Amino acid sequence: MNATIKLEKHFPVLLSELASIISPLYGGTFIDCTFGAGGYSKKILDNKLNSVIALDRDSSVNSTAAKFHSKYKKRFEFHNIKFSDIDQIKRDNIKAIIFDLGYSLNQISDLNRGISFKSKGKLDMRMGLNDFSCDDVISKMSQQSLFKIFKYFGDEKYAKPISKKIVQLRKKNKIETEHLVEIIESIKKKKTGKNKSTKIFQALRIFVNKEITELINGLIKAYNTLPIGGAIVVVTFHSIEDKIVKFFFKEYSEVKNSSRYLPKNSLSKKYFNLTKKKPTIPSKSEVKINPPSRSAKLRFAYKLEDGCDFKKFVNNFNYLKDIENLNFDD
Ligand SMILES: C[S@@+](CC[C@H](N)C(=O)[O-])C[C@H]1O[C@@H](n2cnc3c(N)ncnc32)[C@H](O)[C@@H]1O
Repeated sequence: MNATIKLEKHFPVLLSELASIISPLYGGTFIDCTFGAGGYSKKILDNKLNSVIALDRDSSVNSTAAKFHSKYKKRFEFHNIKFSDIDQIKRDNIKAIIFDLGYSLNQISDLNRGISFKSKGKLDMRMGLNDFSCDDVISKMSQQSLFKIFKYFGDEKYAKPISKKIVQLRKKNKIETEHLVEIIESIKKKKTGKNKSTKIFQALRIFVNKEITELINGLIKAYNTLPIGGAIVVVTFHSIEDKIVKFFFKEYSEVKNSSRYLPKNSLSKKYFNLTKKKPTIPSKSEVKINPPSRSAKLRFAYKLEDGCDFKKFVNNFNYLKDIENLNFDD
């Protein structure tokens, strides 16, 4: 008899909502782009007609993936790659491609990884397969670049004084996690509902892990990987991610006439069927059991046509990609 899979402590967000969207497609292969603790993959594999190809950039999930492999055998395969490399997966008849963005509780609660402002010691924040760590950013980037990262990725009102103080203090001492928290708290004196460090830490995580570029490239490649009729499902956790996903589905699910001087037959095509315009959010009872789910938003659409070029989508978010492309000598 097969051993039962016991999930790690991460709670899968909006799991029954996800299942109700994808269950009409059951009987085929699903790509879980963000395997994490395996909650979504397990739900899909509970139906014996399904197989899962799971991806995760974090190699610390390899042991969970190995357990899945021994239980589900050929129905499960895992790749330690970023989802922006999803085009490496060459498979026909994919039913749905699923993204559950952000961090698993296992990553956040591992204080050695410096993802949370509750960590101590070296600023790291790498999810896996990164080019540099947060320590490199804080110790090497110019004041102007730090300012842009904090302003655009954290919407931090105090981006200017915080970046200035980092650059002043790093001349004397190495800035570690607890020092960064002290700097933020010394500048943001007023009490707010949120922890004062939330925005700056969010901004640094986005930059270190190139989350915007990953998402934009991941969505486009998911569309190219998916056959007509398949679904793309995305769960986001902050407003920048949600803005990108909303634009991606909405822009290409509406028929528009690009110019009022053009004849009616030059209407743009509909590439997605967007059956629900508003995002699905967790119920009060889910938020009560799992408070980190409170900022989750789920959006999905079905592919209707091949051949979308996504130029407008890419151009619309180039200003964010440019910030992720800032160099250490900018
Ligand atoms: C919120 S967790 C997923 C949890 C999972 N749905 C579950 O039920 O256990 C997000 C996971 O996605 C991974 N991840 C985030 N960005 C990624 C990317 N660009 N490519 C591949 N994996 C990524 C993280 O390493 C993390 O393990």
